[in-house]
Amino acid sequence: MQKYDKIYAKDASYFGHTSKQFTTLFSNLDFVSGTILDLGAGQGRDSIFLAKRGYNVIAIDSSKVGLDQLRERVEEEDLPIEIVHADAQGYTPPQDLDAIVADRFFHELPNNSRVKLLQRMIGHLRQGGYMLIADDKSVLPNLRDTLKKEKFEVLRDKNGILFTYKP
Ligand SMILES: C[S@@+](CC[C@H](N)C(=O)[O-])C[C@H]1O[C@@H](n2cnc3c(N)ncnc32)[C@H](O)[C@@H]1O
Repeated sequence: MQKYDKIYAKDASYFGHTSKQFTTLFSNLDFVSGTILDLGAGQGRDSIFLAKRGYNVIAIDSSKVGLDQLRERVEEEDLPIEIVHADAQGYTPPQDLDAIVADRFFHELPNNSRVKLLQRMIGHLRQGGYMLIADDKSVLPNLRDTLKKEKFEVLRDKNGILFTYKP
C-alpha cells in the first residue's frame, strides 16, 4: 500500500474542503465550460468543486484508495469526472485542456522530474488556458521560471499559489 492509500483509508476527507483561494480563482474564470485536468487529485476535493461548477474534469492520481473514494462521490452525484489511476509522469491527456490544476502535487515528485512534467503538461493546454499550482514555496521557483520562459502571464503569485495564463 502506498503512503497516500494509508492516509486516505484512515480519513475520507483528509485535506478537508477546497481552499478559499482556489475557489475564488476558479469562480472568476472567463470560460464556463471545458475540460480541466486535476494532477494528483487525491480524494478529489478540487475535482468535485470544479465538476459542480460545470467543468468536465480529469482526475489523475496514483492512490487507488483516494480515487475509489472519489468514484463513490462521482457515482452518487453523477459528476462529470473521469478518473484515471496512473502515475502522472507517464500520462498523456486525451485532448487539449482548458486548465490544469496541481494542488499540492509537485512537491511529491522528485526534484528533477517536476519541470519535465510541467513542460509536458502545459504542451496540452490550449492558448488562453490556465495553469494553477498551489504548493510549498520551496517548490515554486523552478516551476515559475519554466512558466515565465514559456511566456505564461502570471495572474497571481502569493502565499504558495501560482496562477498563470497561457497567451
Ligand atoms: C498532498 S496530496 C494532494 C491531493 C489533492 N490535490 C488535494 O489537494 O486534496 C498529493 C497527491 O499526489 C498524488 N501523487 C503523488 N505522486 C503522484 C504521481 N507520480 N502521479 C499521480 N499522483 C501522484 C498522491 O497520491 C496524493 O494523492
